[in-house]
Amino acid sequence: MDIEAVAKSYARWAPVYDHTFGAMTHAGRRRATGFANRVGGTALEVGVGTGLALQFYAPHMQVTGVDFSDEMLAKAREKVAEQKLTQVAELRQMDARSLAFADESFDTVCAMHIMSVVPEPERVLSEMARVCRIGGHVLIVNHFAAEGSGALARLERLFAPLSDLLGWHSDFARARVLGDARLHLVEEDALPPLGLMTYLRLRRIA
Ligand SMILES: C[S@@+](CC[C@H](N)C(=O)[O-])C[C@H]1O[C@@H](n2cnc3c(N)ncnc32)[C@H](O)[C@@H]1O
Repeated sequence: MDIEAVAKSYARWAPVYDHTFGAMTHAGRRRATGFANRVGGTALEVGVGTGLALQFYAPHMQVTGVDFSDEMLAKAREKVAEQKLTQVAELRQMDARSLAFADESFDTVCAMHIMSVVPEPERVLSEMARVCRIGGHVLIVNHFAAEGSGALARLERLFAPLSDLLGWHSDFARARVLGDARLHLVEEDALPPLGLMTYLRLRRIA
């Protein structure tokens, strides 16, 4: 998807997102925020969307969220105000391909359900690695393409040409988030329900 298609697609998703895709995918948000809370300090959520994960960060955290879609961000801002989420330091409109933060700014950098959405995911990964402190972690929750020729893999390939309409790539390869030499994979788990989403924890090395 190019960035105009992302903007169009998520302007359409924003009013219904929390009650559709958003409602079925809390396991990954809980898993990633649980880890970030144990580390403490600062967290950056790239592609924060409507802010569904923001309520799960502990009050002692300092969370920054960025997203390209103004409509998705407006929903996140509503949640912060309504739920008085004091752990949210800042929400900013930004393209994840060029993050406006200094190197090593955050203890934890989270990307939930966005790597198969963003244009140039390798560039987004590189930016996440850059802004994560050495010894910190990049956490990724995403659906990755099934291997082999089973029913799921066939379904994913069938839906692949509809990425602009869906708002994500259904056949996104796991290898595309494992190619940055500064990020070392330390944990990987299939998430409920059905293991459709995967949680990856990558440690930032020098
Ligand atoms: C499927 S939603 C996930 C939202 C949220 N992380 C969640 O778990 O509900 C994907 C989000 O990625 C955002 N996005 C896509 N490309 C982006 C980019 N280049 N920079 C910043 N955000 C982007 C979209 O606007 C959308 O809000």
